[in-house]
Amino acid sequence: MAKYILGIESSCDDTAIAVVTEQGEVLSSVIASQAEIHSQHGGVFPELAGRAHVQSILPAIEKALRDAGITHEDLEAIGVTRGPGLIGSLLVGLTSASGLGLGWDLPVIGINHLRGHLRSADLEEQRVKYPAVILLVSGGHTFLAHMTSVTEIELLGSTRDDSVGEAFDKVGRMLGLGFPGGPEIDRAARQGQATIPFPRPMLHKGLEFSFSGLKSAVARYLDALEGPPIVEDVAASFVEAAMEILLTKCRKALKKYPAKSLVVVGGVAANSQLREQASALCAQMGVELCLPPLRWSTDNGAMIALATWDYLRLGKHPAPVPQLQLSISDF
Ligand code: KG4
Ligand code: ZN
Repeated sequence: MAKYILGIESSCDDTAIAVVTEQGEVLSSVIASQAEIHSQHGGVFPELAGRAHVQSILPAIEKALRDAGITHEDLEAIGVTRGPGLIGSLLVGLTSASGLGLGWDLPVIGINHLRGHLRSADLEEQRVKYPAVILLVSGGHTFLAHMTSVTEIELLGSTRDDSVGEAFDKVGRMLGLGFPGGPEIDRAARQGQATIPFPRPMLHKGLEFSFSGLKSAVARYLDALEGPPIVEDVAASFVEAAMEILLTKCRKALKKYPAKSLVVVGGVAANSQLREQASALCAQMGVELCLPPLRWSTDNGAMIALATWDYLRLGKHPAPVPQLQLSISDF
């Protein structure tokens, strides 16, 4: 009889639950969004995020099982995000998973959120061809990695300060757009002209990134303005700078490391210009572009469930990334 994994993701501001098969087929995916709560504060309010998770997690788990047409008896294991993330939010997922695991007599496996994003590209169909260069661009992280298999990963370079998603969100806030700023800036940028020459920090410095200077440059530009900004033009200029940084580093990584595919994952992979420009780059370089469908780019429970299957196959956590400068031990 087919067995399933229940994936639980509660690291930030969405309670996301999914039921997934070993092949990455997604039987159900439930996302209880907190966007409305946090939009009033212009960013994620950790205490409110934790409280909202408490309210939504059990109904979301029940709905995911119901939508999948299964019961807990059909589950092989529960996979749950164990970090990185907001501690109050993580604890809700971890304690709920632990309780259910005990009650249902199922193994509970803690999964690194970033590994979840890496595996999101193989949800519903196997897209990644190894070796692969991975660009992970989320609200909390930005890095490039090289993977020779599902489990072998080498970090090539990460951001020294802010993630690109954070820059999108902060610039969105400066421009008075809603939260999260990423999708709003994406929309506004498509209607504007990139007329403002914002800087491209660390453009030619290896494979590391820096976005805080770009964010500050937008703030300085807005402070110095006499009248109101042309929001669309500021958004277009910011996006042009951010894209040039991301695409230049991807090109460099693809030249330096053997790769059959470029994989772009994390919330910012939903950006329309990133998708277009990554596609053009891959056509030029003769590599395949692997992009998860939009619904798997942002946080979801299915990516955590798929990463849990890797763990079950190996009987242990996949190999750690030794030089990863993130607050995680095994990745
Ligand atoms: O991966 P994710 O859902 O959560 C984290 O793990 O952080 O990423 C959320 C980030 C936010 O910064 C959000 O603004 C950004 O993804 N984002 C976008 C777009 N959609 C979401 N950024 C740019 N363009 C978009 N269309
Ligand atoms: Zn994420």
